[in-house]
Amino acid sequence: MAVDILLGLQWGDEGKGKIVDVLTQNYQTIARFQGGPNAGHTLEFDGHKFVLHTIPSGIFHKGVKNIVGNGVVIDPIIFKQEIEKLEKHDKDVTQRLFISRKAHLILPTHRFLDAASEASKGKKKIGSTLKGIGPTYMDKTGRNGIRVGEIELETFRDKYNQLKAKHDQLIKLHEFDYDVTESEKNWFEAIAYLKTLNLIDSEEYFHQGLRENESILAEGAQGTLLDIDFGTYPFVTSSTTTSAGACTGLGIGPNQIKNVFGIFKAYVTRVGSGPFPTELFDENGVHMSKVGNEFGATTGRPRRCGWLDLPALKYAINVNGVTELMMMKADVLSGLDEIKVCTHYMYRGKKIDYLPYTIDEANLSPVYETLPGWKEDLMQMKTKDNFPKTFVDYLNYIEEKTETPIKIVSVGPDRAQTIFWKD
Ligand code: GDP
Ligand code: IMO
Ligand code: MG
Repeated sequence: MAVDILLGLQWGDEGKGKIVDVLTQNYQTIARFQGGPNAGHTLEFDGHKFVLHTIPSGIFHKGVKNIVGNGVVIDPIIFKQEIEKLEKHDKDVTQRLFISRKAHLILPTHRFLDAASEASKGKKKIGSTLKGIGPTYMDKTGRNGIRVGEIELETFRDKYNQLKAKHDQLIKLHEFDYDVTESEKNWFEAIAYLKTLNLIDSEEYFHQGLRENESILAEGAQGTLLDIDFGTYPFVTSSTTTSAGACTGLGIGPNQIKNVFGIFKAYVTRVGSGPFPTELFDENGVHMSKVGNEFGATTGRPRRCGWLDLPALKYAINVNGVTELMMMKADVLSGLDEIKVCTHYMYRGKKIDYLPYTIDEANLSPVYETLPGWKEDLMQMKTKDNFPKTFVDYLNYIEEKTETPIKIVSVGPDRAQTIFWKD
């Protein structure tokens, strides 16, 4: 068997958690490969609703192993709280949860550094989730970070004190007020708890699994347009959210990867700052926000909404090597008379159909094609046969423009509201 990857093609919140949960029945292992508690992956089934931040979205399936890979950054406090919530639903969750010793730890001072850095940027702030993600990845690449495996060693306290002292100096430079006492106490309690969980040499786990023909699904967090290299820099996150990140974030070779599932909303959302060419400020945007309930699963902030952006989608498909698409939240567009799709950009006076270096308003504006909408409530659809023709035309149009098949259409937040469009 091989590794499949599922990842977001836009600015995150495409519905990754829901679809990983739906697909878990086909896999023996689900593995998160990057990001941390900046993610919020929502799952709904049998009247329950859960938001996962660090834990992979296959956790509700008994008999399936869930791995937090080396590419992930873990805040032990949030991680412990997350597990405790899940344990109320199923007391055995930790038995199927495994954590890479090479994953990096988010310290309380990383969170303060994140806040201090954002405050110092003023209007130019990234709109970070303030979970300490950027500073933790900076310490990782700066070779100062503390990894999960360190908590099993005697040197752990010294390493912590050294890194904290370094952070204290940096935060002072920002003239930022903070008191770490309370969160430090909680953090060490959470570290003691983390020590009781299954800590593993995860790359070895994957190598052995692949030798034994295990099926593995790698779950991405954030989205392609938030990737540290290929996103709308500097308004991005600090990890590799694209398919290459699954190799470095799990320790597997590119020749082990088979399918790359690219997931996108039938429109586009973005939370936080940064350019968004198709953003809407009219009643259509309000419709998407209201009907789609577009509020961040981690921070509760309202998500900005806009029309589907084909040059950006094609770019994301190419950067990731997407083999199959999954279209989410098509139900939200029901009731609109017309649906617009951005097919090109006007970029410094020229019409182009790719994503250029800068996509800010001053350089670029979207060119739209208008398609007819549909009135029918898609949430009630159980099979492919009853969808309105104008919806099918919209879907076929996207497939044709992206030259990539759409395999799944999602028509509601529940696990059951999922249509397998193609075998
Ligand atoms: P993720 O970060 O990619 O896992 O996505 P989020 O959980 O942050 O955001 C997706 C939101 O849309 C969640 O509230 C989901 O419950 C919801 N959702 C997922 N798929 C659909 C869908 O097809 N239709 C509707 N209406 N909601 C959906
Ligand atoms: P999921 O996995 C949407 C955004 C933040 C901010 C930028 C940098 O649920 O799709 P960070 O805290 O990472 O330094 O913030 O990235 N962001 C997300 N937006 N979904 C996410 O995750 C996100 N994770 C980070 O809003 O603009
Ligand atoms: Mg989310």
